[in-house]
Amino acid sequence: MSDSYILILYYSRNGATADMAELIGEGVNGMAGQRAMLRTVAPISDSLEGLNMPEIPESGPLYCSEDELRNCSGLILGSPTRFGNMAAPLKFFLDQTSSLWLSGSLIDKPAAVFTSTGSMHGGNEMTLLSMLIPLMHHGMIGVGLPYNLPSLHDTVTGGTPYGASHVIVNDQPSVISFDESELCKALGARVARLATKIRKP
Ligand SMILES: Cc1cc2nc3c(=O)[nH]c(=O)nc-3n(C[C@H](O)[C@H](O)[C@H](O)COP(=O)(O)O)c2cc1C
Repeated sequence: MSDSYILILYYSRNGATADMAELIGEGVNGMAGQRAMLRTVAPISDSLEGLNMPEIPESGPLYCSEDELRNCSGLILGSPTRFGNMAAPLKFFLDQTSSLWLSGSLIDKPAAVFTSTGSMHGGNEMTLLSMLIPLMHHGMIGVGLPYNLPSLHDTVTGGTPYGASHVIVNDQPSVISFDESELCKALGARVARLATKIRKP
């Protein structure tokens, strides 16, 4: 197994973004030279009364450590769309990455984004673009999806040149369409391919 990994870091409350992360991981693992590492972040309280940091759960996806982010060869960041932006737990995690910014640990590494969204025109593209902003501050290289992918032309739900997206249809979060799924896998494969090229030009 390769030592070099693509970190797929996501937050998901109801499972749709987590399902996308699995598909993206398939795309990464299909490429030689990289493996997928799936990690999540701790939830924070939805209450206005303050932050309520939970205990680390005994089961479920692992929380990402600072070292796992520091040592990745590429990053694919995923969040549900919340008011046209990323969810607070993911932003809270990123806001604690100043030491990586100071050390320049993520500079020149490829980065891509994905989102699950409740409605077709509820801001999935805005969310993707805004998720790229902190990654640009970290000096990462933004990676999207090119139009030579047939699914980018064919999709009637999610999938954008800015990253992968999933639109929940008929209140069924886990039904990711064929085209959305193809684009998730393509995003994972593209970041893995570019990460390997950048490490060994
Ligand atoms: C507070 C909140 C804000 C939301 N804002 C939006 C939004 O702006 N646009 C949209 O299409 N869906 C919105 N949704 C729906 C979520 O995007 C949807 O529940 C999410 O994709 C589910 O992802 P998950 O299964 O990974 O938790 C919102 C949901 C919540 C709870």
